[in-house]
Amino acid sequence: MVIDLNQLTPAERQNYLQHAIAPRPICFASTINKAGQVNLSPFSFFNMFSSNPPIVIFSPARRVRDNTTKHTLENVLEVPEVVINIVDYDMVQQVSLASCEFPRDIDEFVPSGFTAEPATLVKPPMVKESKVKMECKVIEVKPLGTEGGAGNLVICEVLRMHIDDSILNEKKFIDQTKLHHVARLGGDWYSKVDSNSLFQVEKPNVKLGVGVDALPAHIRNSKILTGNNLGQLGNVHEMPVIDPAFEDETLKNIFQYYSINPDEMEKELHTYGKQLLDAGKVQEAWQVLLATS
Ligand SMILES: Cc1cc2nc3c(=O)[nH]c(=O)nc-3n(C[C@H](O)[C@H](O)[C@H](O)COP(=O)(O)O)c2cc1C
Repeated sequence: MVIDLNQLTPAERQNYLQHAIAPRPICFASTINKAGQVNLSPFSFFNMFSSNPPIVIFSPARRVRDNTTKHTLENVLEVPEVVINIVDYDMVQQVSLASCEFPRDIDEFVPSGFTAEPATLVKPPMVKESKVKMECKVIEVKPLGTEGGAGNLVICEVLRMHIDDSILNEKKFIDQTKLHHVARLGGDWYSKVDSNSLFQVEKPNVKLGVGVDALPAHIRNSKILTGNNLGQLGNVHEMPVIDPAFEDETLKNIFQYYSINPDEMEKELHTYGKQLLDAGKVQEAWQVLLATS
């Protein structure tokens, strides 16, 4: 299916985009108006865009339903300060509750049951239960349109972070396995970061990878190796050569049983190479795959 966004209703546009651009981190924004009334609402149109200066942006959109604006937007236009509280799994149901359209004079800390804690540099309070809180100065608010659904970029500079000791490692950095973020997807869907959903991809360093296009044809066109496997193989910095010292029992057995049938042997070697790649053993996989050439 191919769709042109200008052929859709605002609600359909929002639906396709929110399901496709996911998961999105959640900014739980605490703001205050000139009269001192506090507001607390979640926004998943949110991310970081710069670390030096430290800039994060979230977007309270004009309501698709009736083109009205959100209290959070009105507040940051009056008092350009916000505390962004990061949402983790322990908080998600109360965060959803805080997103109800309570009247302007309601401080959502109260109905959602969160604890307000004074911030140190800005006026809006922090959410005590959040494990990462960022005190921010709003440096610009940029409207993206005037119709229902139009976003308003609230561009914030992070001045100070408060990080719960329980999620720090011994070097005082955040331990990614200890902060169980939740993120918003389409409709009512959320995702949760935990040890089952986390995995690591080795960062390519300053040296270039050889590239998938440089892989020998029988590897590049393999019916067994996946795109991820080719990515792993193409990420080596120099094209590996056969290492005569490489010893492997499975490889020996494959040679022994399949030497009379080269097609079957290639299939077996690719299957074994894939197993090694899926286990993160790239150098070993290269040795096995080179044995087919
Ligand atoms: C997890 C979550 C993420 C949300 N993200 C956004 C968003 O990015 N932009 C937006 O305009 N509304 C978003 N909403 C809806 C607002 O939170 C909701 O409209 C809220 O009532 C606004 O409150 P306010 O008028 O007090 O600022 C989200 C709701 C939830 C539960």
